[in-house]
Amino acid sequence: MKTRIDLTQDEMPDFWYNIIPDLPEELPPPKDETGRSIEVMKKIIPAKVLEHEFIKERKVKIPEDLRELYYQVGRPTPIIRAKRFEKYFDAPIEIYMKMEGYTFSGSHKINSAIVQAYYSKMDGASLITTETGAGQWGIAVALASALNDLEAKIFMVGASYYQKAYRVTMMRMLGSDVNPSPSSLTNIGKELMKNEKNKNGSLGIAISEAVEYALEHNGRYNVGSVVNADILYKTIAGLEARKQLETIGIEPDYIIGVVGGGSNYSGLAFPFYKDYKDAEFIAAGSSEVPKMTKGEYRYDYPDTGKILPMLKMYTIGYDFIPPPIYSGGLRYHGVAPTLSLLMKKGIVKARDYDQDTIFKFAELYSRLEGYIPAPETSHALPIIKEIAEKAKMEKKKKRILMSFSGHGLLDLGSYSKMYQKDDENVFSPS
Ligand SMILES: Cc1ncc(COP(=O)(O)O)c(C=O)c1O
Repeated sequence: MKTRIDLTQDEMPDFWYNIIPDLPEELPPPKDETGRSIEVMKKIIPAKVLEHEFIKERKVKIPEDLRELYYQVGRPTPIIRAKRFEKYFDAPIEIYMKMEGYTFSGSHKINSAIVQAYYSKMDGASLITTETGAGQWGIAVALASALNDLEAKIFMVGASYYQKAYRVTMMRMLGSDVNPSPSSLTNIGKELMKNEKNKNGSLGIAISEAVEYALEHNGRYNVGSVVNADILYKTIAGLEARKQLETIGIEPDYIIGVVGGGSNYSGLAFPFYKDYKDAEFIAAGSSEVPKMTKGEYRYDYPDTGKILPMLKMYTIGYDFIPPPIYSGGLRYHGVAPTLSLLMKKGIVKARDYDQDTIFKFAELYSRLEGYIPAPETSHALPIIKEIAEKAKMEKKKKRILMSFSGHGLLDLGSYSKMYQKDDENVFSPS
């Protein structure tokens, strides 16, 4: 059995998949509580992206220029069979990793960033604004704006800005302007800075700042998760994975991955949802931000400043200030409406794991497979253990497809905390 499954550039799918017509019931629409949020969206979201947000067709053609850009940033990505990790569990499992960490930006985020930058340019805009948590989305936007000759203004959650200094440098190397949020560049930022509880920032705050800045500077705001259009673009990963597994005659029994706002998991899983009726869908998040397991399914604001329309989703509240965990990409308070609906219907199951648990899994995976996962990505690894135990008990083969959403090479500062105790022992003067 092959360890690596590739697609050629010509084999890369030439459409994105839109799940909306296949959902078990109609998606609750966004709600314009303030009476001005839809107007705001029309001003700052690229016209084509806004059109895609509400599109009804199942397939959306990928323009030829965008296919070229996808190749340039590392698509199609391989699937790698994690054979040594499989062996560790001593159970009848096969693990197929869809390696989004192999893209130049280092995560799945580029799949949508490159598209939104392209459509921003098509609007005649010269500036993109966005928020970023741990910086994966920020790097993707920085790369996408560089390749489309656009300026980028990036608001990075304060806690992450200081934890992930190399990510900040990478964005700057790519030509973007990066600011810790809350910042004094926006009115909402200045207001929120007055309250000590906001000092670490949150994605909700950073979104409000990016939206305000786009509005005031005639920019286009690019969204890194949650919304339908962003997920549509990210289905390129799932569509590729389907083709790759079909080539070798494999049907996954489980499709797993992690959820920040939900686009990573949805991007891989949605293209399997309609045709793979026997597959089980399991998504993991952080128990420090337990929106999937302890949140409520209701209308809530996607941003702290309540500028954007409300969405029906699993949420722990738009004003929730998450602890400064290292998996910054999982700190968001809500889950994409499409994915939330599938969770509500019991089609996608949720798990939450804490930071200490996932660090151990990240270390184990690195040692066995020789590739360091992002802390966010590692939240899906304990699901493999759960499936392995079940497979062993049932003595039945289980094939697992996982979104390997990003590499952890810029997360070494966080991982180094695991070794601090050892270092203290080595360097202790006594
Ligand atoms: C490596 C990695 N994986 C997963 C996620 C979660 O992504 P999403 O918000 O698309 O669910 C993030 C978010 O930043 C990330 O950086």
